[in-house]
Amino acid sequence: MAHQALWGGRFKEPLSEIALKFSSSIDLDRQLYQEDIAGSVAHVEMLSACGILTAAEGRRMKTALKAIQKEIETGKFRLNGDYEDVHLAVEHRLIQKIGPLGGKLHTGRSRNDQVALDERLYLRSAIRELSRLLTQMQRVLLYKAEKYFGVLMPGYTHVQRAQPVMLSHYLLAYVSMFERDYERLQDCRVRLNKSPLGAAALAGTSFPIDRLKAARKLHFDGIVENSIDAVSDRDYLIEFVSSCALILMHLSRLAEEVVLWSTKEFSFVTISDAYATGSSIMPQKKNPDIAELVRGKAGRVYGALMNLLTLMKGLPLAYNRDMQEDKFPMFDAVNTTRQSLFVASHMLVHTTFHKNRLTEELREDFTTATDVADYLVRKGVPFREAHEVTGKIVSYCLDHRMFFGNLDLETLKIFSKSFDSDVFDFLLPHKSVEQKQSAGSTSPQEVKKQIVRWTRVLRGRKI
Ligand code: ARG
Repeated sequence: MAHQALWGGRFKEPLSEIALKFSSSIDLDRQLYQEDIAGSVAHVEMLSACGILTAAEGRRMKTALKAIQKEIETGKFRLNGDYEDVHLAVEHRLIQKIGPLGGKLHTGRSRNDQVALDERLYLRSAIRELSRLLTQMQRVLLYKAEKYFGVLMPGYTHVQRAQPVMLSHYLLAYVSMFERDYERLQDCRVRLNKSPLGAAALAGTSFPIDRLKAARKLHFDGIVENSIDAVSDRDYLIEFVSSCALILMHLSRLAEEVVLWSTKEFSFVTISDAYATGSSIMPQKKNPDIAELVRGKAGRVYGALMNLLTLMKGLPLAYNRDMQEDKFPMFDAVNTTRQSLFVASHMLVHTTFHKNRLTEELREDFTTATDVADYLVRKGVPFREAHEVTGKIVSYCLDHRMFFGNLDLETLKIFSKSFDSDVFDFLLPHKSVEQKQSAGSTSPQEVKKQIVRWTRVLRGRKI
């Protein structure tokens, strides 16, 4: 049975059960009960401080609100489909508990500013949690980068072997990617951490409220100034979800590497059995399901972003009920991002890289071809010619089933007189890596610098 609506006065008939069922958001927004009550407590404190409620009234309401929170947590008060949303449910319960005084809670406030407030508070803690999970992920990657320092692997472009790189360098690329995600979240927080409370329905209120006082109680950095903007804006949410979409894009790329690298064809890594599954029909199979699911979850978060962008694009100012539909993408984006980061970092901890296989694969290839060409350039050969000569050597090796490692100086000299015995300092993958000089390159010194810097940054980060 639906409860008596709190706007009864103007209506001759109650909302039909059908319409209530369709329009109720409580199944989702009950997750906001803590934020909703915290917002109401701050509002009550501000109302008493401004003399709009007496101190005694304020105290009674605050005690009752806190009691309602306990009732929700112990299951004594159930936020069920009898209510349209969490805001009305809490207010209804307050009136039930303390009588007409409860009806004063909504003075100088509307559900329009209330819901925006709850969302901002909720996202603020989501940002805290996701930042912690991102840092954890970065620490796992850094740990692996240190553990495998010195191990070389083929670096790829177009999924074709390109040049030798350090495995640590590769892993640290992801640390940089997740760092940008971390920064985006902090940046989003700056704009998000403003209080819309006191904007009321859209026009503000004639009560002498102090918006800044309520904002400070809730640890906001200030207020959303324009009251119309305060209730009609969802940029903070879209910005947050777009940051989540980028996190999932990065996780998905990492997951894709794990999927590829765990194949027989690559055999670069082994995922622990605890993060893989078998086939119900093919007994020999070990599938990277967890990595695949992380990759697949990206679609959900992108979906949430599209959902929100589309939801908002045609809405005239200020609040429209369409905006209630922001709850599903909001919660889904937060939960999916949280879960994916958590699972992916655990999976990575339990993933082993095969040092021998990576080294072996490099030996039997031509990934140092650019170094050979650069060598010739240093001997005065124009780069285009050096490129051509080296290409011919690769072709020769392929025809003769050889690798760079099998070539002797005599053979090399057939291709160019400029080759000398010091060419062997360039032919071997570990030499190639050591020869790199540019900042941020794959040389051991440069990779070490990154490790040192990230250790300092990530160790110092409070999570
Ligand atoms: N449940 C609503 C939402 O999530 C709360 C705001 C309702 N405001 C209104 N004027 N009907 O958007």
